[in-house]
Amino acid sequence: MSRSISRTLGAVAVAAALTVSLAACDGKKAPAGSADAGGQHKLVFGFSQVGAESGWRSANSKSIQDAAKAAGFELKFSDAQQKQENQIAAIRSFIQQKVDVIGFSPVVTTGWDTVLKEAKAAGIPVLLTDRAVDTQDKTLYKTFIGSDFVKEGNSAGQWLVDAEKNATGPVNIAELEGTTGSAPAIDRKKGFDDVVLKDPKFKVIADQSGDFTRAKGKEVMEAFLKAHKDINILFAHNDDMAVGAIQAIEEAGLKPGKDIKIVSIDGIKDAFQAMADGKIEEVVECNPLIGPQIMDLVQKIHDKQDVPDRVLSKEGVFTKDQAAAELPNRQY
Ligand code: AHR
Repeated sequence: MSRSISRTLGAVAVAAALTVSLAACDGKKAPAGSADAGGQHKLVFGFSQVGAESGWRSANSKSIQDAAKAAGFELKFSDAQQKQENQIAAIRSFIQQKVDVIGFSPVVTTGWDTVLKEAKAAGIPVLLTDRAVDTQDKTLYKTFIGSDFVKEGNSAGQWLVDAEKNATGPVNIAELEGTTGSAPAIDRKKGFDDVVLKDPKFKVIADQSGDFTRAKGKEVMEAFLKAHKDINILFAHNDDMAVGAIQAIEEAGLKPGKDIKIVSIDGIKDAFQAMADGKIEEVVECNPLIGPQIMDLVQKIHDKQDVPDRVLSKEGVFTKDQAAAELPNRQY
């Protein structure tokens, strides 16, 4: 064997040994990803996003991408197009690539235990963002950052109770639900019902999923209007569906804000514009701009620091009379 070949093989052996010893150091895996300009290992964060179904979601994705860049992380971002199987495949791919931390916003609440156990077995910590999972084993993820969806439903319901306090009833409600089986759809419905259905004058006469999209919101509202001539209130689980429903209401020759009063959730600019135009009564804010908080948690988890089990995002509630003044301040 020539001296240069033997030197090369020697270097390969050292590198291999170093990799093994690094793997042995953290007990589970060799580090993945690239190095920064100083040759330091960059933290690699694998994130599986629900999709791009709403203005809220687009703002959330941008916040995560911008914050990961600002934190100097390598972000592996995957869009699941609202499909759980795509999220499971993305998480498995992150495990294979040995990322440092995995984050995801689960499209639905159930069916995650198997893949979360795979991440745990690989020694890769997981954090949940925006939406919760339904599992008995709370050790499968480190923390969950996001809104209190039940409280959002309570706020929407409270607006209705206050607005219709003098009505003798019946007050007929149509409800455009979010994605079936998703945490916000389940919790917002519960929060709203808990407050509103205590009084029998309130009746939910139409109730269907619009999948959190503008197009489906419009389509489902058209069907509601064909089947029911007596809708007084629309509760939309998000603003995009409310905006789609407004188009359907107007095309049916009715006036949103007068013939049908609307309350919805998120706080996107289009909904603030609709409020300023008198077409939506109240918007309950759900804050998507949680990228910086997520990166802070990712760093802490990676550094094996303690993090709270649950981190709540801060949000407000806005009514029609505040809309015009607030519109220029909206960031999404
Ligand atoms: O999980 C948050 C919800 O998901 C937002 O309210 C909705 O717009 C989005 O699609």
